[in-house]
Order: sequence, then C-alpha cells, then structure tokens
Amino acid sequence: MFVTFEGVEGSGKSTQMARLRAALEAAGRTVCLTRQPGGCALGQTLRGILLSQKTAGLDDRAELFLYLADRAQHVAEVIRPALAAGAVVVCDRYTDSTVAYQGYGRGLDTTLLQTLNAVAAAGFVPDLTLLLDLDPAVGLTRATSRNAAAGTAEAEGRFEAERLEFHERVRQGYRALAAAEPTRFAVIDAAPGPDAVAEAIWRVVAARL
Ligand code: TMP
Repeated sequence: MFVTFEGVEGSGKSTQMARLRAALEAAGRTVCLTRQPGGCALGQTLRGILLSQKTAGLDDRAELFLYLADRAQHVAEVIRPALAAGAVVVCDRYTDSTVAYQGYGRGLDTTLLQTLNAVAAAGFVPDLTLLLDLDPAVGLTRATSRNAAAGTAEAEGRFEAERLEFHERVRQGYRALAAAEPTRFAVIDAAPGPDAVAEAIWRVVAARL
C-alpha cells in the first residue's frame, strides 16, 4: 500500500506521519517512512539546493526539474523496492506537491506537470493521499517558529519565505486536486490538535488496509 501526505507548510505532516507509522506497526505492518525531496542520497543533495534560502534566482523550470529528478531516483531506489517487499510506503509529499507548488503556486501548466509527473513516478500512483488541509497563515506561523527553534530557517526556509498569496494558491490547488480525485484523496482538517488529527487519519487508513 502506497500512502502520501500532502499539505501547506506547517500542516503537521511530520508529526502525523510518525503517529501513523506507530499505528501501522502496532497493526503488524512493515512501514517505509520516506519523503520528497530528500528520501535518497541524490535527493538529499537536491533538497539542500531546493530548500536553502541561499539558492537565489532559481528559475521555475529548473526548480521543477530538480523535484522531478528527486522523484525519479526516489521511486527507483526506495519506493518501488519497498512496495515490492510488501511494506506500507508512507511518503511525505509526492506528485501532488509539484502540481500544487509549481503549478498553482508558480503558474506552470498543470496538464504538462501531470505528464512530467507520470514520467518521473514511473506509474507509481498512491493508493491513498492524505491532504492535511490548513489555513496557510496558521501553517506558516507554525513552520517559521519550528525552523527558528531547529535552527533550519536558512537551510530549509526558501518556501516559507514566499508571500502568503503563494501559499493560498497552493492550498486552492490541493483542494482542486482532491475534488478531482475523491477516491484517492482524503481531506483531513489539520486545525484541531494532533490527537484528533491522528484519529481522523487512522479512521481513513484502517478502512483501506
Ligand atoms: P518539506 O519537506 O518540509 O515539506 O519541504 C518541502 C518543500 O518543497 C515544500 O515547501 C514544498 C516544496 N515542494 C515543491 O515545491 N514541489 C514538489 O514537487 C515537492 C515534492 C515539494
């Protein structure tokens, strides 16, 4: 089973992924918890470039192809083998991030992005995508204070530094994607506390196991 998490900055994906891993393992499942960008060695290098505030003037299309390169390598090296071994793969961000951020956020053509995603993902489509839906103003406040506390504002903060309008478009993009594929997507309200969100997620996942 292939599960992806999506959402705006600060929507609580990392916390909820750890909670889901624990619940799945308690249910006897082997779990591969991973992420894009950065779930393999090449991806770690690309993540450093993509998220650093020191990366100035990155062209939108260059940014796109770096995310796609990360995806292609990560599918080949991590996702495909883990699924073949029978693990539940839980991935932090995947193809929908590209459509939401590079499409709705940056303004690149979303139909073209879907085609390029299909190439990079080599046909691996998530069985379930959990969209943690949150007001980006709330999420950005959370993400910015998390980065400040962890000392990662410069290394990981390039998208947090985007204007609120950018993140509003990303959220609308996610909602449009979820509306277009209601079977694959589950939209989870990420505003309540972590326990309530974890319960909502587990209800959805357990029903599909
Ligand atoms: P995160 O791992 O902390 O969520 O950060 C990843 C950032 O990269 C986040 O701001 C969203 C962005 N991103 C894209 O713009 N396009 C993509 O295809 C992916 C996977 C992430």
